[in-house]
Amino acid sequence: MAATIIIGSQWGDEGKGKIIDYLASKADIVVRFHGGNNAGHTVINKFGKFPMHLVPSGIFSKKAKAVIANGTILDLEVLAAEIENLKKAHIPLADKLYISPRCHLIMPYHKLLDKLYEEAKGKHKTGTTGRGIGPTYADKVSYNGIRLADLMDKKVFAQKLEVQLLVKNKVLKALGEKPLNQKEIEKDFYRFFAKIKPYIKETFDFVYDALDKKEVLLEGAHGVFLDNDWGTYPFVTASTVLSGGATAGAGIPPQKIKRVVGVVKAYTTRVGAGPFPTELFDKDCEHLRAAGNEFGTTTGRQRRCGWFDAELISFAAKINGFTEIAITKLDVLDEFKTLKICTHYTLNGKKVKYNDGTAEWLAKVKPVYKTMQGWASSTKGVKKYAELPTEAKAYLKELEKEIGVKIKYISTGQSRYEIITV
Ligand code: GDP
Ligand code: IMO
Ligand code: MG
Repeated sequence: MAATIIIGSQWGDEGKGKIIDYLASKADIVVRFHGGNNAGHTVINKFGKFPMHLVPSGIFSKKAKAVIANGTILDLEVLAAEIENLKKAHIPLADKLYISPRCHLIMPYHKLLDKLYEEAKGKHKTGTTGRGIGPTYADKVSYNGIRLADLMDKKVFAQKLEVQLLVKNKVLKALGEKPLNQKEIEKDFYRFFAKIKPYIKETFDFVYDALDKKEVLLEGAHGVFLDNDWGTYPFVTASTVLSGGATAGAGIPPQKIKRVVGVVKAYTTRVGAGPFPTELFDKDCEHLRAAGNEFGTTTGRQRRCGWFDAELISFAAKINGFTEIAITKLDVLDEFKTLKICTHYTLNGKKVKYNDGTAEWLAKVKPVYKTMQGWASSTKGVKKYAELPTEAKAYLKELEKEIGVKIKYISTGQSRYEIITV
């Protein structure tokens, strides 16, 4: 019994929600430990289809408890709506969902600042989800954050909000926005708070005490190349996406993490701006987008699509310590006659690695491809490895060889039930 972390290995949307929903049936606790509602994890099971933004994707498991731990940041309006939606679908939440009072709150001025920074950057914008993520984490690390616990005492919340509005309203006014009204924010926040209050609980002991006796699943969000330190900065998100981030974000010691599962899409996608060496702009891109339904779960934006990039995944495997891989969306490749895998990059004729340079540098590297035979037949819903076409097995073997980590799961469709365990 130990902790297992699920990590998105590319630029997000690898299918983490699906894999977590599948693995959660055997887990005792599922924990979100970073990020906010910039995450959108799609879960499709017998209860329906759910785009999960804050509540852990393991909430549908009969036995698992779901924890929103301290490293997660909360938009209370989104969280309250998500809770309502789950209640409507008759998903039990009482004594099942726990939310850490240490979570920082996304405030209305954070969302406005996110928008203002993007506008100021113009054509150099990050392409954020507009959910206020960067400004909220910035306030957290500069001791200007407001936490869920602060709402427990109306005086404390009012005092902290007053200080922030003193500064934020000056900035907002200078940039042409209307100043925010303290009383209106307080009214809204206490309305959402009432819906969330029953689930607030300090989560440290609950998670820590389970580590030796129970199965704890840690639900990573976003993807390795959106990590604030090791991603394609500044085209990244504000949190630590890597497996190491779970120790602070959930309050667990590193020795307790036994398995690190890298969730890897069978090709590559990215939403938002930034370098993408294997990006396609032709009919293959259109095919991947249509077959893979590559439109954002959170913002509905069209995702950029490209070939599999093994250079990226090899780096992701090293920095996270992947013990196994879950390949997703194999079925999306069903109709290709040939497929390409980027094995490495070159620059000015020399072999280079992802971690050799910056985002600006990465935009200049040339991907070197190995061409593979497609299988041109359906793998949709296949549940046994032996039933995969020979060419699909060869493609998976090649990915495994390039990454250097065993493939343990192969997802062949959107729903919980369309999966192969190797
Ligand atoms: P996440 O953010 O990593 O949880 O991924 P998203 O939910 O944002 O995007 C992944 C999309 O792919 C969702 O629409 C999933 O339902 C879908 N998906 C996941 N696994 C598979 C698969 O194996 N095959 C197909 N066709 N779709 C999948
Ligand atoms: P899941 O968990 C895909 C991207 C945004 C943008 C950058 C910064 O569903 O895989 P932010 O709003 O975080 O300040 O935006 O990060 N991004 C994601 N892209 N999936 C996600 O989450 C993402 N979370 C952030 O598109 O490029
Ligand atoms: Mg997503």
